Amino acid sequence: MNYKTLINGAFVDAKEKLAVYNPSNNQIIAYVPNIHDENEINTIFENAHKAYLKFKDTTIECRCDLLLKLADKLDKHKQELAQIISTEIAKGLKDSLIEVERSADYLRETVFEYQKLMQKPIIFDETVHHVKNKVATYYRIPVGVVLAICPFNYPINLLISKLAPALVSGNSLVYKPSTQGSLIGIRISELVHEVGFPKGVVNCLTTEARITGDLLVTNKYVKAISFTGGPKVGNHIAEITSKISLVLELGGKDPALVLDDADFELAANEIVKGAYGFSGQRCTAIKRVFVSHKNHDLLVNLINKKVDALTVGLPQQNPIITPLINSNSLKYNLSLVEDAIKKGAIVHQKIVYNEKNNLLHPLVIDNVTKEMRVAWEEPFGPILPIITYNSIQEAIDLINQSQYGLQACIFTTNYASIEQLALQIESGTININKSSSRGPDILPFFGVKDSGFGIQGIVDAILSMTTIKGIIINK
Ligand code: G3H
Repeated sequence: MNYKTLINGAFVDAKEKLAVYNPSNNQIIAYVPNIHDENEINTIFENAHKAYLKFKDTTIECRCDLLLKLADKLDKHKQELAQIISTEIAKGLKDSLIEVERSADYLRETVFEYQKLMQKPIIFDETVHHVKNKVATYYRIPVGVVLAICPFNYPINLLISKLAPALVSGNSLVYKPSTQGSLIGIRISELVHEVGFPKGVVNCLTTEARITGDLLVTNKYVKAISFTGGPKVGNHIAEITSKISLVLELGGKDPALVLDDADFELAANEIVKGAYGFSGQRCTAIKRVFVSHKNHDLLVNLINKKVDALTVGLPQQNPIITPLINSNSLKYNLSLVEDAIKKGAIVHQKIVYNEKNNLLHPLVIDNVTKEMRVAWEEPFGPILPIITYNSIQEAIDLINQSQYGLQACIFTTNYASIEQLALQIESGTININKSSSRGPDILPFFGVKDSGFGIQGIVDAILSMTTIKGIIINK
């Protein structure tokens, strides 16, 4: 089936197409336009800029109303939307539904938070600042065209978490969905169109970013970029852009540090949930576990029991482990396992995989050392390295040697000294006694080092896509 995409208020086609695959059988399920002509791309951004010039002057009420209508549309069509996600990226149907519901909530929370932000302009107070006869008020205003580049793993939620802050504050938006994710991206553009966003305010640019990416990110009308993807591309974007607002979410290698005084049952539960949910294809998935020699067997036995009970299958059966996004991902995961085994790791489960549907059964890779690639690389798959430590300091040092620093978890029953320890870990957020995750969406979400730049989360995303304008009245 051939899809058209929303550009400047109309659904357009292109001569060249991008194929969308069903990861569960490697079959092509659809074609979407591959918009790659430089002039065409420049015109899209120019029109988005023109649309912004009008949209910025709409009332807050008008924009909030449009977003609330979009939230209602997501609710109304949630079964259909979940089905599209589930087919396109092989996410379990139930999890896909949760993703749609979370996205509708995201829209409503954004409207709520934006109104609070706008009701609080920054005001200099004469009595505090000893400034006489001057009242300065700073208003939050949009920046212009926002470019959103979205990943495959949350094709609706990570789109909405960029779309909502951009539009509520009066920007226009060009979003590039991941090719595996473009069917839901296009469907959202249809719903956006139905609720009545003005022409050119929202554009869904399906394109092969490997070829056109630089054109997109360096376009003169782009004033803010929100990118979720890998560090190689993210760092490249940072290098070739200047004087624009950048938010980059670039993956992670989130550690779970299990201390000797942990509740091991709780730790094992959270680790398995955090490592294997959506087959480990989450930037915040737990991707390495640190445990002392003393408690290694206790923890690994508990983890193994829970891993052996994980359900594996196709998305419509709602298992925990579903097919990986494509055959390259399967091959990559297997290469990490092979490398680890060659260097002395022990894999506790039988290695079971199927190239026809990209299913890889979950694996616990034990006795991992720093010589192994799996200790450092991000698999984005259901494989979990276990590393034993001699001292907490050794564990912290190893954790901090990673290029990544998104989130981390510490499991302990001693809350008294935990903050001191947590502060030593180089990551955006440290979760105590819980697996790492982006939500609740109102919290700031960010990484350090190669995990990212800039801050997401409902309020911070609005701040990243707006600037301020001051009016100083001298009486
Ligand atoms: O994959 C990256 C996502 O931002 C992670 O979100 O923690 O809700 O799974 P999550």
